[in-house]
Amino acid sequence: MNIIFLGAPGAGKGTQAEKVSEKLAIPTISTGNIIRAALKNGTEMGLKAKEYTESGRLVPDDIVIGIIKERLSEDDCKGGFILDGFPRTIPQAQALDEMGIAIDKVIDIEVSDDAIVRRMSGRRVCAKCGSSYHLEFNKPKVDGVCDSCGGELVQRKDDAAETVLERLKVYHSETEPLKDFYKSKGKLSIVEGQENIADTTSLTFKALED
Ligand code: AP5
Repeated sequence: MNIIFLGAPGAGKGTQAEKVSEKLAIPTISTGNIIRAALKNGTEMGLKAKEYTESGRLVPDDIVIGIIKERLSEDDCKGGFILDGFPRTIPQAQALDEMGIAIDKVIDIEVSDDAIVRRMSGRRVCAKCGSSYHLEFNKPKVDGVCDSCGGELVQRKDDAAETVLERLKVYHSETEPLKDFYKSKGKLSIVEGQENIADTTSLTFKALED
């Protein structure tokens, strides 16, 4: 099954993608994680992306489309995959079509802007493996330490309050039109994001069965 997770920054796409990935045993491809890894490793692509991600803007389409093309050609994607954070613009969605990639389901996680701002301020991520936690809603077993790999939990630079507002603005203008794009293809399912992660996961699994 080839699945796309849509939603505002911090809506819970990554959290839900992880659950579905475990259940269906297919990889999650997060353009955000790939870009952050490139930034950390100081690659040419990472350096190009830096000014965009850190100010909350989108990285240019040609860069992210290149990343996705390369990643989807790897063997582990042959039995299905989950896209988390791609596509984010109409040209990116059209590029997927042009690659001949058939999408089975698009899950849009809906969360209000106010709730997004609350969630982002409490998010902490593992500096080593990228796993995501929340100070209130998804606590690690030991404060400041990743459950999966023991890495240090840190706040993402783009989770600063003013950058979150910019990311939300970009989401509404560039990414939200994708809902109509996939609705017109009969692929869109809406999941109302719940206060509790497990409740959202139940709705996500239900949407995948419909
Ligand atoms: P990316 O990493 O994709 O960031 P994003 O879309 O802004 O999404 P997030 O990872 O911030 O949030 P999420 O929806 O996955 O939420 P999460 O599960 O972590 O992209 C970063 C940047 O890279 C972009 O700004 C852009 O510059 C660039 N980029 C990436 N892809 C690109 C593309 N295709 N084109 C161009 N540029 C691109 O949850 C958030 C928090 O809430 C967590 O702490 C979590 O524990 C908590 N939480 C989750 N669910 C719940 C719940 N139900 N109740 C309470 N808390 C919850």
